Amino acid sequence: MINLRNVRKFYGALEVIKGVDITVEDGEFAVFVGPSGCGKSTLLRMIAGLEGIDDGDLILNGKRINDVPPDKRGIAMVFQSYALYPHMTVAENIGFSLSLKKVPVAEINRQVGEVAEILQLTDYLDRRPAALSGGQRQRVAIGRAIIKKPSLILFDEPLSNLDSALRVQMRAELQRLHRELKATVVYVTHDQVEAMTMADRIVVLNKGIVAQSGHPMDLYHSPDNEFVATFIGSPKMNILPVMLSRPEAGKLRLENVMGLSISLADGDASVATGEAKLGIRPEHLKVSQGQGDFSAEVVIVERLGVETYLAVGSPKDPIVVRAEGDLSIRPGDRVSLTVDLSACHLFDSNGRVIRRPQTL
Ligand SMILES: Nc1ncnc2c1ncn2[C@@H]1O[C@H](COP(=O)(O)OP(=O)(O)OP(=O)(O)O)[C@@H](O)[C@H]1O
Ligand SMILES: [Mg+2]
Repeated sequence: MINLRNVRKFYGALEVIKGVDITVEDGEFAVFVGPSGCGKSTLLRMIAGLEGIDDGDLILNGKRINDVPPDKRGIAMVFQSYALYPHMTVAENIGFSLSLKKVPVAEINRQVGEVAEILQLTDYLDRRPAALSGGQRQRVAIGRAIIKKPSLILFDEPLSNLDSALRVQMRAELQRLHRELKATVVYVTHDQVEAMTMADRIVVLNKGIVAQSGHPMDLYHSPDNEFVATFIGSPKMNILPVMLSRPEAGKLRLENVMGLSISLADGDASVATGEAKLGIRPEHLKVSQGQGDFSAEVVIVERLGVETYLAVGSPKDPIVVRAEGDLSIRPGDRVSLTVDLSACHLFDSNGRVIRRPQTL
């Protein structure tokens, strides 16, 4: 459906998109996610045709569209600021693009009615945007996009102005809408929870390059690098500096300052010894009754009811443990921890993964 091939963008001398390759299949819900300033909006605006492309190819349905004007691309975009016309009713806002095209009024009314039905806006068609809630305004903005029957809809952080309850509700609505419309969606957010919950495919961006792209669970289970490993998942993955040694052929030893010492079968003799990083998600550390893999002092306890987060070790750079239920542990206690080795990740000193969980 959409292919970006080695796409680049400069603002003056500053390269903000540094050779990006992305494929989004027909009908997919793709989410571009990454920290502020990584180039998400710029990429989306390049796909929409609102920004020029300095190098590379943008292919839509097999055709190169780098130079096709925005209104000829069959792409609709929903912005973070809904950009509704304040003096128009909901119905006029949704139908505006059709009235520009001089579509007969009866036909506009029919299509607006249809769109309003899908978005549950039927009861609000006569209202002005000022008399709507944030979520309703957002739905009007979506209505304006989908009435054009685009084959591709672009969303730029559409939920960031909503409170957290409404965000959860709109996440579900957007997924329903995607199923009903069967359109391809590219959705930009800095929120990894939105990305994980909605995406068929996540593209993680970092400083203008693709850090990794794939199915949400593949990124969770098999991150290619420390950036993706710590970006996906909440609370985020702990990264422990470790020393790797090879005490004898066929064995790797992994040690850290907290007394963690793990021996592994060395399936790959090319792994360099020396400084490395062990990635352990909070859910893969367990408080053990007996002697664990290492022990540490608890510095913070956060109780959420269903689970408890313990920050252990150094107060400045603690290791986070996610435990089920409401534990009777208090700051100052010492806990033994076991590491679920099969779910850990090992990175070299540059943050590139050197071992996948299944080989650890
Ligand atoms: N018109 C412009 N001129 C110069 N630099 C720009 C311009 N627009 C964006 N940039 C820079 O390009 C980079 C990418 O910006 P972009 O808006 O795509 O980030 P983003 O990932 O959408 O961030 P956010 O999550 O904050 O919206 C940033 O470093 C930004 O400062
Ligand atoms: Mg942006």
